Amino acid sequence: MAKAKKAKAGAKRTARKTSRKVVKLAARKPAKATGAKKANGNGLPRPSAKPYGQAGKALEGVKILDFTHVQSGPTCTQLLAWFGADVIKIERPGIGDITRGQLRDVPNADSLYFTMLNHNKRSITVDSKNPKGKEIIERLIKYCDVLVENFAPGALDRMGFTWEHIHKLNPRMIVASVKGFGPGPYEDCKVYENIAQCTGGSASTTGFRDGPPLVTGAQIGDSGTGLHLALGIVAALYQRNRTGRGQKVLAAMQDGVLNLCRVKLRDQQRLKHGPLTEYSQYGEGIPFGEATPRAGNDSGGGQPGWIVKCKGWENDPNAYVYFITQAPVWEKICDVIGKPEWKTDPDYATPRARLPRLREIFDTIEQWTMTKTKLEVMEICNPLDIPVGPILSMKELAEDESLRKTGTVVEVDHPTRGKYLTVGNPIKLSDSISEVKRSPLLGEHTEEILTKVLGYSAKELAEIKSSGAITAEDKKKAAA
Ligand code: COA
Repeated sequence: MAKAKKAKAGAKRTARKTSRKVVKLAARKPAKATGAKKANGNGLPRPSAKPYGQAGKALEGVKILDFTHVQSGPTCTQLLAWFGADVIKIERPGIGDITRGQLRDVPNADSLYFTMLNHNKRSITVDSKNPKGKEIIERLIKYCDVLVENFAPGALDRMGFTWEHIHKLNPRMIVASVKGFGPGPYEDCKVYENIAQCTGGSASTTGFRDGPPLVTGAQIGDSGTGLHLALGIVAALYQRNRTGRGQKVLAAMQDGVLNLCRVKLRDQQRLKHGPLTEYSQYGEGIPFGEATPRAGNDSGGGQPGWIVKCKGWENDPNAYVYFITQAPVWEKICDVIGKPEWKTDPDYATPRARLPRLREIFDTIEQWTMTKTKLEVMEICNPLDIPVGPILSMKELAEDESLRKTGTVVEVDHPTRGKYLTVGNPIKLSDSISEVKRSPLLGEHTEEILTKVLGYSAKELAEIKSSGAITAEDKKKAAA
């Protein structure tokens, strides 16, 4: 008995020795809250005594295998990186994320398209179709907590990384994907931003009633879906603390856009019960059709609003202001625009009476705003609680001092392109302060990740290099 036990222990030791590296990388047990003493039975660590902002980042310790490209996926992983996750971006040797070379403004430097979506990440080049490359990715799967991808439907499976395979390698791994559509007739389609805007209900409800559908400049299909995916990942990480296992997270672009357009689906259902009285077409006596119409610049809520011209509009395409005729401040609006008689006139005094007259009301407001600059309108209306919003150009936003101070607009230095402006983390956590670090050069961290993260020896690194798995040049040599 004792002999058998001894032999078993010996065999275990040998097995441990031979597979030491693998053991290190194998799926880990749920992490214990290190050094955290339980407080009064509520299961949470005691509140940190460190000053706010100095107790580590929100997602510190989370490892992301970033298999994303273009905009939607990179938006998601950039956010996770800003919250402190270690994001390892896998790129194709010699090419990288296609956006590195798209819309280039500085010759031979990564484009702003790429740099502005890939801050705070590390880049490793790996050919996922090369056997050695597959091996590296498998080790990364064992090491990381989340794999994020936004390839065309089926591309990850074709590489050999099916959910089943990934889950077998690392049962704790969360596999998060952006796709154009969820399961259904279009699930195999490739999708870009404007396609999602069109299929998610945004285009049919954007623009003027008598014009064609319009897409919006805000990247609600790409960046919007990346945001949705990031929330799904954080939720899955939280659930994993309880279940110990990973899960699939899917954010379809059509779903994300529809979610952002939910007020328009609200209006679709309201149509059954009568006209949409807050739409200016109601006041103009134009009948409604079967679907939610385009509403021009009508306010989406119950408070009528419109974009009106300001002083200088003849030469400045952005000399406009959004003006909301919010009911509680109607009397102040009447005074400001020089129509005090409207306060008591039954045709104007109540929101309901005003609905059929909105066009005339906004024309009158515009007569006043055209005598002021958009910022003067803001200065006059804000102290009176009249909601107005100047139409700010990208130039004005880029130069805005307050946005610089909060880190929403940040200047970043880059070794090949020099200084550029970017949008920093728009979500501010008081105890997890985001710093914006420049995007990585293609493959900048390949060796670092292979040796320091995955533990490959110098000899193994040389083998990997000659296999063509990580460099485009070596790949050609290997093929020759
Ligand atoms: N090594 C080797 N091959 C790699 C690789 C790597 N490191 N990284 C990617 N590839 C391969 C893929 O395996 C795929 O090959 P396959 O077609 O033989 O399977 C190929 O590169 C191209 O990937 P794909 O995703 O099809 O790129 P695309 O340029 O043709 O399509 C999109 C781009 C965005 C339309 C498509 O990826 C897509 O629909 N994604 C989901 C929706 C989405 O995110 N859209 C918004 C983008 S902002």
